Amino acid sequence: MIKKGIILAGGKGTRMSPLTKAVNKQLLPIYDKPLIFYPLSILMLCKIKDILIIVNKGQLDQYKKLIPDGKNLGIKITFKEQDKPRGLPDAFIVGEDFIGSKNVAMILGDNFFYGQSLSDTLRKCTALKNGAKILLHKVVKPELFGVAKIDKKTKKIKEIKEKPKKFISDHAITGLYFFDSNVVKFAKTLKPSKRKELEIIDLLNKYKRKKKLTAEYLGRGGAWLDTGSISDYYKTSNFVQAVQNRQGVKIACLEEIAFINKWIGKSHLKNQIKFYGNCDYSNYLKSIIKKSV
Ligand code: DAU
Repeated sequence: MIKKGIILAGGKGTRMSPLTKAVNKQLLPIYDKPLIFYPLSILMLCKIKDILIIVNKGQLDQYKKLIPDGKNLGIKITFKEQDKPRGLPDAFIVGEDFIGSKNVAMILGDNFFYGQSLSDTLRKCTALKNGAKILLHKVVKPELFGVAKIDKKTKKIKEIKEKPKKFISDHAITGLYFFDSNVVKFAKTLKPSKRKELEIIDLLNKYKRKKKLTAEYLGRGGAWLDTGSISDYYKTSNFVQAVQNRQGVKIACLEEIAFINKWIGKSHLKNQIKFYGNCDYSNYLKSIIKKSV
C-alpha cells in the first residue's frame, strides 16, 4: 500500500496571467473551492494520510492560511518550496527526505478527476509494490499531453511520448503517478530537456526500459479535466457546479472524505465550520453532522 503522496502545486501559471500574477494557480477557485482541494481529495481517496505539498518559493504563507497542517482533516500535511519550476520529476528531488525509502504517489496540483469507479481504480494503483504505474484516459487532443501507446493484444505499454506532434495514441497520461522508492534515485540521474526542465516522460521511460511500467485506466465513466487554460478552468468549474447542483453533494469536500474514512469526528467538523466561517461550504459540513445523528 502506498502511504505517502506529493502534490506538485508550483509552476508559474503563465497561461493564466494576470490571474496568476499574485495568486498561485492552485489557489484559484474551481466553482466553490480552491483548485488544490481537488488533487488533495484524490490523495485522500487513495487513503493516503501523509502528504507533501510542493509550492513556489514565496507562496508558502498563502497555502498555510488555507490548509495549515492537516490536523483537522486527520492527516499530516507538510510543505516544501521549489525555488523554480525545474520540471515534474524535481518533486522527487525536493521531496527526497519526505519519501525516504517508501513508495509514493504524485498528483499534479492542476489535475481534476471525477468518476463512479474512481475509488476502485485508485485502490488498484496504491497496491503497487514495485515499479511505476500511470493512469490513462482517452482524449480527443492527445497532442496536448503525455501519451502511451498500448499493445492491443498484451495490453502492455509499447511507447510513451510527451505531447507528440504526430499521432501515436489517444491514451493520455494523466497527472497522477505511482512510484516505488527508486524514484528519487532515478530522478537524480535525469538531464534537463531542450526546454530546460526534467521531463516526467524520461523518468517513466527509466521504469519502462526495466519493464516496470504499468497502467490503469480511468474508464468511460470517469472524467479527467484540464485546468491548463482559462477556458479549461471555467469548463471544469461549470462541470463541478452542474454535478453538485444536480446531485446535492460536493465534489472534493475534504472534511467529508476524512469523516467517511473515519479519520475525524464531529468535533473536527465543527472546528472546520468555525475556520471557514459562515458560507455555503460550512453549511454543507453542518448537513454532514446532521445526517450522521
Ligand atoms: O496534466 C497531465 C500532463 O501534465 C501530462 O499528460 C504530461 O505528460 C505532463 O508533462 C504534464 O504536462 P503539462 O504541460 O500540463 O505540465 P505543466 O508544466 O503545466 O505542469 C503541471 C502542474 O505542475 C502545474 O500545476 C504546475 C506544476 N509544476 C510544474 C512544473 C514544471 C510545478 O509545480 N513545478 C514544476 O517544476
